Amino acid sequence: MSIETSSWDTLWLNVNIATMAAEAADYGIVEDAALAISKGKISWIGEMQSLPEFDSSSIQVIDGEGRWLTPGLIDCHTHIVYGGNRANEFEMRLQGKSYEEIANAGGGIVSTVSATRSSTEDQLFESASKRLLALCKEGVTTVEIKSGYGLDTPNEIKMLTVAKRLEECFPVTVQKTFLGAHAVPTEYSGNSQAYIDEVCDKMLPAITDLSLADAVDVFCENIGFTYSETQQVFEVAKKYKLPVKIHAEQLSNMRGAELASTYNALSADHLEYLSEEGVNKMKAGNMVAVLLPGAYYFLRETQLPPIQLLREEGVPIAIATDANPGSSPIHSIQLMLNMACTLFKLTPSEALAGVTRNAAKALGLEQTKGVLAVGMDADIACWNIEQPAQLAYQFGVNPLHILMKSGQPVV
Ligand code: NIG
Ligand code: FE
Repeated sequence: MSIETSSWDTLWLNVNIATMAAEAADYGIVEDAALAISKGKISWIGEMQSLPEFDSSSIQVIDGEGRWLTPGLIDCHTHIVYGGNRANEFEMRLQGKSYEEIANAGGGIVSTVSATRSSTEDQLFESASKRLLALCKEGVTTVEIKSGYGLDTPNEIKMLTVAKRLEECFPVTVQKTFLGAHAVPTEYSGNSQAYIDEVCDKMLPAITDLSLADAVDVFCENIGFTYSETQQVFEVAKKYKLPVKIHAEQLSNMRGAELASTYNALSADHLEYLSEEGVNKMKAGNMVAVLLPGAYYFLRETQLPPIQLLREEGVPIAIATDANPGSSPIHSIQLMLNMACTLFKLTPSEALAGVTRNAAKALGLEQTKGVLAVGMDADIACWNIEQPAQLAYQFGVNPLHILMKSGQPVV
């Protein structure tokens, strides 16, 4: 079969590739390989020895010198747009107060809401830029950003507008998630039903009108929203044909993941208190389990998510930073790879699948991202490593050599 090389515009030579293809074992490794790109898409992958003839005068050739390529990393759960910080609450927790106690006493999410409301769009853009840059420097080419610190129509719109601007200014795909049901704002204190009505009748329609959300999320928890309140938000999301996600079973088992499965949710996230029934429903609903080792670590949680059960049932596991000011002020996807292994006992290969293939699925982007294969987006990270397990094994020396977004090297 002759291969059409005339469309190639970029060619990686002398690389080892962790394709992360689902059908392949482990990392889906192709050693001593080449990878060609045409107009931002991968057009050929194979061993160097089967590389067809090509016209090097019209192709940008990059000699990988034996380095490794992986898909660009995907951080599928973040809250990087926010004002202020909560270092004071960190100190309170170290003195013995729990995350729930602080939230119930008027701190927690609603304290970040005040700081976010009083920040201008430009101020939020500026602080979020620094966080996004930290992620990109570690190989991230796709990020999900949630709203949820505005909790009224103008401020939720402000947050999602910042997320949109970030995508325009950075070489990164941004998936925007509306998380109006993150906490009850103080003006609705004691009347969460009235706030949920506001989310459903005013905020979600306004945000949909502006095409500012790719998905809808709810914090289903005793310090968040009940099963039935979550259901009300999901019903409206369904009406607007927006996919749903859920913060579920983080501090207690509210059966949120089960509920989400009946709405074909993309993912349920956190999941420390997920039951066996919940695992089964997630499997039946073709959902991704997004595990967040940064929040587990930072809240000094001891209840582990049911990892072995998820694995046995074949529920895809994604890993994300959950970068936010309260439960995970951590903006390092490389640290998450390490923590997924040390704290959650994932294998380095499972951890890498968690920030590539399975993270793409958690965002509904599995047709174009998360795997290096012909036809997929050429979002590629090139690493100075000798074997892929090194990405999870070490932390603190950044092995990223070149990052490519849609076939273009990122400066
Ligand atoms: O994913 N759980 C709810 N939301 C965030 C925490 C937000 C915050 O504390 O500001 C989380 O952990
Ligand atoms: Fe979160």
